Amino acid sequence: MIDRARLLLVSLALLLLPAAARSATDPAVEKRIDELVAKMTLEEKIGQLNQYSSSFDLTGPPPPDDRAKARYDQIKKGLVGSMLNVTGAAATRAAQELAVKNSRLGIPLIFGYDVIHGYRTAFPIPLGETASWDVEAMERSARIAAIEASASGLHWTFAPMVDIARDARWGRIMEGAGEDPYLGALAAAARVRGFQGKDLAAVDTIAACAKHYAAYGFAEAGRDYNTVDISEQTLRNVVLPPFKAAVDAGVATLMNSFNEIGGTPATASVHLQREILKGEWGFDGFVVSDWGSIGELVPHGVARDAREAAKLAIAAGSDMDMESGAYVAELKGLVESGAVPVGAVDEAVRRVLRVKFRLGLFDDPYRYSDAEREKRLVGAPEHAAAARDVARKSIVLLKNEGSLLPLDKARGRIAVIGPLAADPDTPLGNWRGSAVKNTAVTLLDGIKAAVGPSVEVRYAEGAKLVTAETDMGRELTLNTDDRSGFAAAEQAAKGADVVVMALGENAFQAGEGRSQAEIGLKGVQADLLRAVRAVNPKIVLVLQNGRPLALQDIAPLAPAMVEAWHLGSQSGHAIADVLFGEHNPSGKLPVSFPRVVGQVPIYYNAKHTGRGDPASGGMVFWSHYTDVPNTPLFPFGHGLSYTRFEYSGLKLGAAEIAKGGKVPVEVTLKNAGSRAGTEVVQLYVRDLVGSVTRPVKELKGFQRVALAPGESRRVTFTLGTDDLAFYTAAGRWEAEPGEFEVFVGGSSAETQSARFVLR
Ligand code: BGC
Repeated sequence: MIDRARLLLVSLALLLLPAAARSATDPAVEKRIDELVAKMTLEEKIGQLNQYSSSFDLTGPPPPDDRAKARYDQIKKGLVGSMLNVTGAAATRAAQELAVKNSRLGIPLIFGYDVIHGYRTAFPIPLGETASWDVEAMERSARIAAIEASASGLHWTFAPMVDIARDARWGRIMEGAGEDPYLGALAAAARVRGFQGKDLAAVDTIAACAKHYAAYGFAEAGRDYNTVDISEQTLRNVVLPPFKAAVDAGVATLMNSFNEIGGTPATASVHLQREILKGEWGFDGFVVSDWGSIGELVPHGVARDAREAAKLAIAAGSDMDMESGAYVAELKGLVESGAVPVGAVDEAVRRVLRVKFRLGLFDDPYRYSDAEREKRLVGAPEHAAAARDVARKSIVLLKNEGSLLPLDKARGRIAVIGPLAADPDTPLGNWRGSAVKNTAVTLLDGIKAAVGPSVEVRYAEGAKLVTAETDMGRELTLNTDDRSGFAAAEQAAKGADVVVMALGENAFQAGEGRSQAEIGLKGVQADLLRAVRAVNPKIVLVLQNGRPLALQDIAPLAPAMVEAWHLGSQSGHAIADVLFGEHNPSGKLPVSFPRVVGQVPIYYNAKHTGRGDPASGGMVFWSHYTDVPNTPLFPFGHGLSYTRFEYSGLKLGAAEIAKGGKVPVEVTLKNAGSRAGTEVVQLYVRDLVGSVTRPVKELKGFQRVALAPGESRRVTFTLGTDDLAFYTAAGRWEAEPGEFEVFVGGSSAETQSARFVLR
């Protein structure tokens, strides 16, 4: 209701906004926009705000079915501003010709596509890639994705997805950077830089889109599209930092989200889109709705019909309508009746045109649709090497009892068992762009390629994970109770020096619409593990999955566990690099792994509560479960190495600082093992007393430090007052005076600490 009340004021303020935004932008471009807008009819303006998905062959004659024919004609009349899911140099060129050659003003279309973790060459799913804690690697993978996508005629990716997520039941947790706003903000900025490069007009860069704005990851019970109800504090302190970082990195567009927050769907939220994004942050690109989300204002129950939905959405600052058709059908009548000021439409159009100008589309609308570049660059061999490198950096060594890993590649017998061991599809993950089905290097092939001729590799599938396929990809059949492969698996395991077991989730078990109430190993996988263990307990469990799994009962069954996510095209080679010690793992979890699903949402940067430890309430009356510990199975920031790192001598350079001052933080890191390795040194801070309650720990810095065996290094950080700032009870982003505790270590759980005071 508050949002509705604000609408009038906002509508009035609207007319002023373009001028304000203009000041930060290129005057020459703004002049060209002015001239173009002056020539446009109302219908043509609304057309720029209309986006359709390709549902017909754009390279052939007009499509026969009525709906497709109508859309085809709309493109020709300049009533479509953008299309998604048109890919390939030929198809994009054909669609562009349709718009540019036939419409009155010849305004080019902008082609968008979900390039989430690679285009043809698949990189690790974003959650996995974030486990590298290597922002340069994240930027590189986005850069290569942009090189391939732009060569295929695309201008715009619906990425990065920057939704903070604390709930592993939510299938889309795979698409983001995990649970932490600091790491999430760095990942967001790196990916924006990678996609957009230094110059958006270059033919090998594409516009990025930070999504889903906002709080989509906070869906109640982890059920996709569900209600979100979070405080302004959580919104500002946890959800928004990655979006702000994307905007500061120059992201060209944002996508809003399906969910409501506190009663207002994000698509109709004046607060999010006008006040914060376009107001406070001065964002001058455009906001695209999520698929049909303007139309969904009707089932949400805030709009009676499409007309009212269009009115709410445009007033709230949703600039482009993805696939609901509400703008193209309703905005004209709304403007003509005076219900929507034409200034609201003009402002949205200016934003869309601005991005098109920045992409260089007005200089040459076909510049990205280049068949020669497409042939040369899409899936280029040199991209495979980068995909392998990023993939191995993303692997997390969860446990390694008795130094079972690394394995000997020169001799011995290795049994490779499990439904995902020889599966060339799962590593491509969900949201795989235009990666070709069944083309990933499998774990089995990776192992075979890595070992010498005297190593015997035996393989048994053991159990099937997938028995059905749908048009949306392979679906997990949850009732796989087929144990007929167990005997062969036991046979393979018997007498082997080590068993590598490949279990987890298939590619489409995570992703949009794939929320799950149980997040363990599906089907008979756990039974298979137990059966194999009964004949050979020397098990290395390699997990391939899109979300944190709850493995309290599974973890004790395997002395070694490797988290290998869905790692992309080069998955098998990357995992083999780690298994045989070619690459010493350095990945760290970007998200907590619960013991059991009942702990979810579980995240390290939680609040202490009034009864946060047993001392506060006796044995019973404190904030805990009576059946499982509060701690996760594997905490945020956890990840082992084949060498051992020791921390000592944490020292703060100041016991007290004034506002604007800085605290130097130093710690000694020693490689106390016998191999070279890289450690991600993590710095956390706790603000002990605040005007609102503060998290028990917040990540404020990290460094990847490579050390030779026996080598020590003094690692230094500088904590500034800005690092201590948060959204306070007064509604300001600032640091509050008081005492702070600093923690440094190799995970969010194992840390040394020291204190200082901000005066
Ligand atoms: C998803 C978006 C995606 C869009 C276009 C929607 O269902 O939520 O993330 O970009 O579809 O494919």
